[in-house]
Amino acid sequence: MRKAVIPVAGLGTRFLPATKATPKEMLPVVDKPAIQYVVEEVVSAGLQDVLMITGRNKRPLEDHFDKVDGLEAALAKKGDDKKLAAVRHASELADIHYVRQGDPKGLGHAVLKGRQHVGHEPFAVLLGDDLIDPRSPILPKMIDVAERTGGSVVALMEVPPEAIHLYGCAAVEATDDEEVVKITGLVEKPSPGEAPSNLAIIGRYVLAPEIFDVLETTGPGRGNEIQLTDALQTLTDADGSNGVYGVVFKGARYDTGDKLDYLKAVVQIACDRDDLGSDLKAWLKDYVARID
Ligand code: G1P
Repeated sequence: MRKAVIPVAGLGTRFLPATKATPKEMLPVVDKPAIQYVVEEVVSAGLQDVLMITGRNKRPLEDHFDKVDGLEAALAKKGDDKKLAAVRHASELADIHYVRQGDPKGLGHAVLKGRQHVGHEPFAVLLGDDLIDPRSPILPKMIDVAERTGGSVVALMEVPPEAIHLYGCAAVEATDDEEVVKITGLVEKPSPGEAPSNLAIIGRYVLAPEIFDVLETTGPGRGNEIQLTDALQTLTDADGSNGVYGVVFKGARYDTGDKLDYLKAVVQIACDRDDLGSDLKAWLKDYVARID
């Protein structure tokens, strides 16, 4: 597998006014924009080709992953090798392509925009709001399951029952591998009582190219949008399909799509950093002790 698709056309209204002129994917998580963590995850899983599905006001993403000669020359002149390496790293990470979504018709529609670029190969989809801790990666296992079964694979995580309405939810059967389940049904953002389990889809997918034909004929679903979950539901029992599997994630995942979760992500990631962790933790302990 070589290719990953990252949909980044969302408006980021939950972070207004910060996202009035800055894409939400560019919000810093410590000292890197959130999107860079996602591209680094793609590269760590051995994929080199990234297609971003963008929209208006997303130019800063392209600039971030591009070379900036003037900045590099200035840092080189100052002898600031560390910052020079950090700046170059972003532009040398992967082979990144961009296509615009046009109408914002949902995640399924965004993925379908990748058809021309992806062609007839299996590919990964990563959603930028979910950050996966690089110490507990999930994509390599998902790629392995996709290669073994020829099917599509989603990342699943157990969530509290009161949170399942925020996610795609899976009905599953066990397989011989305790980390892997066979998916028998999927519901996008179920209302209370409608959820078949507490297994939520987190924003990582490995999709068989047959998904494109299904997406072409998938009508609007939840929120009047074309849902990737609905297309995957069709593949669970379609004739000739190799089916849909889930890898159950037990590692650390941070949600940066919501203000409170974003703040938690920044604090946790900073606490784990060699250069910041011990000072931040010491301050946090003192601060917490002073909170009522
Ligand atoms: C999307 C998917 C949903 C999935 C979620 C994971 O929803 O439609 O199935 O559970 O991502 O983050 P969104 O959060 O974009 O509304």
